[in-house]
Parts: sequence; structure tokens; C-alpha cells
Amino acid sequence: MLKENVQEALSAQLNAEVYSSYLYLSMSSYFSSTDLAGFANWMRVQAKEELMHAMKFYDYINERGGWILLKPIEGPPTEWKSPQDAFEHTLRHEQKVTGLINDLVDLAIAEKDHATNNFLQWFVSEQVEEEASAGEVLQKVKRVGDNTSSLFMLDSELAQRIFTPPAQGDGK
Ligand SMILES: [Fe+2]
Ligand SMILES: [Fe+2]
Repeated sequence: MLKENVQEALSAQLNAEVYSSYLYLSMSSYFSSTDLAGFANWMRVQAKEELMHAMKFYDYINERGGWILLKPIEGPPTEWKSPQDAFEHTLRHEQKVTGLINDLVDLAIAEKDHATNNFLQWFVSEQVEEEASAGEVLQKVKRVGDNTSSLFMLDSELAQRIFTPPAQGDGK
């Protein structure tokens, strides 16, 4: 059985993952409204990934016989000044989430909950990728600057991103 404080912290992370999904969906909508369909696609895929993260927490809490208390999801911002502003926000947000995951690992270790620690290691690696991919797009956006044709080229590149569901046994 999960200890109550661990269960509460995992539920809070489920909420944070759904919030991330909301945030990126809101960014997707912002990009659609500025006619950057490729950027909008990238964010939509990101929003899907975050929901998948949330479901991993859901399934894990269930598996351990825990009780899931779904709390309200905060409303995300709806506007950004520029693509660079949105990607700076994305990178900042992912760094914050990394901190939350690290805190969870600390808690699992303090509570000697090895199964939860093991479960969380997937997220530890995932956050390395999340920060890297947000940082990579941010660098590209910065390089584009005010060049409209480069911006549209980057937009076509970001249109290529597709959602890849995790392999069997790697969550649902
Ligand atoms: Fe996530
Ligand atoms: Fe993320």
C-alpha cells in the first residue's frame, strides 16, 4: 500500500501533468490564432504527451491500491508575446516540472518506497528529454529572429512532429 503522503504527492503530480497538457493546448491555440500551424501542431502533440504522463500516474496509483482524488485544474495563460516568449515559458515550465519530479523522488527515498522511486525514474529520464526538446526549439526560434521566411520554414519543420504512443509495458 502507498503511504498517504506519497499517494497525495503522486495525485498532485497527476494534476500538474494535466495542467501541463492544458498549458500546451493553450499555446497550441495561441499558435493557431497566429497562423503558425506547425507550431500549433508541435504544442498539440506536447499536450497529448502530458496527458499520457498524467495517465501513468493514474495507473500507478491505482496499481498500488491508492485512492485518486482529482482536484481542479488551474486555467493556463492564453496569450504570449511571440513564439520565443511561448518557448521560453515552455522551457521554464519543464524545468519547474523537473523540480517537482525530483522532490517526489526525494520523498519516495525518505519513505523507503522503492517501487515509487523506481516508477519515478522513467520521469527523471523523460524530463531530461523534455528540457532538451523545449531548449532545442527555443534555440531555433531565437536564431530565426525577425526573419519571416525562416519562421515559416521552422513552422513547416514543427508540423512534422507526430505523437508516438509509448511501447507496450512502457505505460499506456
Ligand atoms: Fe509531463
Ligand atoms: Fe513535460
